[in-house]
Amino acid sequence: MPAEACAGAAAGEDLEPVFEALVQQVLSFRDQHRSDPVLEEVSPAEVRDRLAASYDFEHPIELDGLRAEVGELLNRWTVDVTHPAYFGLFNPPVDPAGIVADTLVALYNPQLAAWSHAAAANEIERLTLDHLGSLLWPESESTIASFTSGGAEANLSAVIVALSHQFPEFGNRGARALPGAPRMYASEESHHSLLKIAHFTGIGREALQLVPTGSDLRLDAGALERAIGRDLAAGALPFLVVGTAGTTSAGVIDPLPALAGICERRGMWLHVDAAWGGTACISPRLRDSLAGIEAADSVTWDAHKWLSVPMGAGMFFCRHPEAVGRAFRASTGYMPGDTTGAVDPYSTTVQWSRRFTGLKVFMTLARLGRQRLVERIERQAEMGDLLRAGLEQDGWEIVNRTPLPVVCFRRPELAGPESYDALVKFLYERGRVWISVVALPGIGPALRACITSYETGSAELELLRSELLHGLENAG
Ligand SMILES: Cc1ncc(COP(=O)(O)O)c(C=O)c1O
Repeated sequence: MPAEACAGAAAGEDLEPVFEALVQQVLSFRDQHRSDPVLEEVSPAEVRDRLAASYDFEHPIELDGLRAEVGELLNRWTVDVTHPAYFGLFNPPVDPAGIVADTLVALYNPQLAAWSHAAAANEIERLTLDHLGSLLWPESESTIASFTSGGAEANLSAVIVALSHQFPEFGNRGARALPGAPRMYASEESHHSLLKIAHFTGIGREALQLVPTGSDLRLDAGALERAIGRDLAAGALPFLVVGTAGTTSAGVIDPLPALAGICERRGMWLHVDAAWGGTACISPRLRDSLAGIEAADSVTWDAHKWLSVPMGAGMFFCRHPEAVGRAFRASTGYMPGDTTGAVDPYSTTVQWSRRFTGLKVFMTLARLGRQRLVERIERQAEMGDLLRAGLEQDGWEIVNRTPLPVVCFRRPELAGPESYDALVKFLYERGRVWISVVALPGIGPALRACITSYETGSAELELLRSELLHGLENAG
């Protein structure tokens, strides 16, 4: 390609070598990262000094040098969540389709706010969401869905829609117009984004009632019934129950059928936060563990947690398109006009300007096809089972029960939270694996390992087990 034909090139600038080097960087990434440590610890001062020494934004810097240096910084000072020995938070390695997709998105930079500005992009998103929605709710005909920045925005969308639907006056006059204090309920193991959401929807953090979990770490449905009864007697307005399908700490699934029954009897909205666990609906083996989700009024499901796509690709699904339309309604003369037969995303979602988030999900699903995707998901579940068995063999006690690949474990030699922290710190200093510590209600501190990579195999499981035993002997 002649240099001047390169997108975005300035006069006389040859971008070809930059993109060629970028391609090499992409192609060598996986092998290089497999042999690198999972993390190298660093202080904020060290990173800041290094950046300050090189960048004052005064003079232009040639693009290939920038590319190389940023790559080096990221290589060195990033916890490598794409590594198969990263047993961490819900951050998967990325399928190549996602890299190609995000490059195309940056190149075309389509604006999805109005359908007419990005017909192809909006329909690609719609097709993708319709497909995933049909896996979530095979029986439901009337659904609406959108891509979000992540699970927090999808949960926010759910609370706004539920508030607007349950209290029609909320949209115009706000919480102060309601005849009592609105109340929403989620387990003490639910995601903390809900607290922030209660804060910034104006109903206040105290509107979120955290319901205790049983010894299985699942929301206690009896305790939920009692909490709702108490609040009603005190004149409060229970409007929403959030069930979690795959809790952040322990990967457990709340009793969704019981929550659905309560919501139906009480006329409340049921939202299921399946940010990570939603992906189980793709697998014939895991699908039943989500039983009850079909009764949800809305669902959060993040493609960037377990579907091997780059961040941020959250998704919000709802079975009440009219409620979503009322909650996010907007219309103005400066936007392009409506298109017959299509809705404009700026008037049905939280966002206004809208990035083409869905392309990486579309291209990943299309590239893999259903069977390969199912194999990836089920392989991770199998690795979770293998890890549980191996840890028990090594004398660890598994403290969570879930078919999903999050394993929480402890042992009596580790006396309190400090011993767990010391063990993990020792592992971080060695940099060969990454796991975390969690505090579980009624259990206390435990180690947490999640299989987040479709490339994690028995070699990485053995590495983790031997690192843990080594840490037990030498840490603290
Ligand atoms: C259950 C659950 N819900 C919501 C979120 C928030 O998702 P995000 O970080 O994509 O905003 C998380 C994040 O881990 C989560 O585990």
